Amino acid sequence: MARLSLTTQAQQLILDRVSSGDAVIDATLGNGHDALFLAQCIGRLGVLFGFDIQPQALANTQKSLAMLIQPPEICLMRVSHAEMLERIPVAFRGRIQAIMFNLGYLPGADKLCITQADSTLIALNAAIELLAPGGIVTVMVYPGHPGGEREAEAVRHWLEALDESRYCVECIASHSDKSSAPRLFVIDKRVDLL
Ligand SMILES: C[S@@+](CC[C@H](N)C(=O)[O-])C[C@H]1O[C@@H](n2cnc3c(N)ncnc32)[C@H](O)[C@@H]1O
Repeated sequence: MARLSLTTQAQQLILDRVSSGDAVIDATLGNGHDALFLAQCIGRLGVLFGFDIQPQALANTQKSLAMLIQPPEICLMRVSHAEMLERIPVAFRGRIQAIMFNLGYLPGADKLCITQADSTLIALNAAIELLAPGGIVTVMVYPGHPGGEREAEAVRHWLEALDESRYCVECIASHSDKSSAPRLFVIDKRVDLL
């Protein structure tokens, strides 16, 4: 039986967790595939925030979202996801149901414009702050391109240091056993115990 791609697995995990009317974030808009998927999950009552530093990514995402018949409220920002905590309205703190990171470079554009370990870690710290209890963060990492291995290692170290009583972390490997193969990290924020 054919194995699902990691991006499809990420979307399936999100689908299980997100409902109509939720607030979600795409931390790396790229070509807008994940943003379109998230927008379809949350429907017209939801709120989608998106980040990318490249104008082309915002243009591609706007084009992709334009096909929605009943779009959610959409707020796309051409700033680094490292600014996520300051940019998302305070009212949404602890209320974001899903956050997707798809690291690396924009396919079809400059391969030197990549996500960087330092800003990625700042954004991940912001993401778990913004996340609702019961919410999910997915992080696709690509160790195969220059700079990607350093970033993947930095993310792995950061995940290892997360408080296990508050977060459940999983790593899903791709079908290739090469160390340069992409992998998917999943963070679940545990529901607060009363
Ligand atoms: C692999 S692509 C994302 C793919 C996208 N999720 C999709 O569905 O098409 C990675 C994106 O991260 C963006 N990026 C790089 N550094 C960033 C940063 N500091 N903040 C936000 N986005 C960044 C790149 O411009 C690129 O568009």
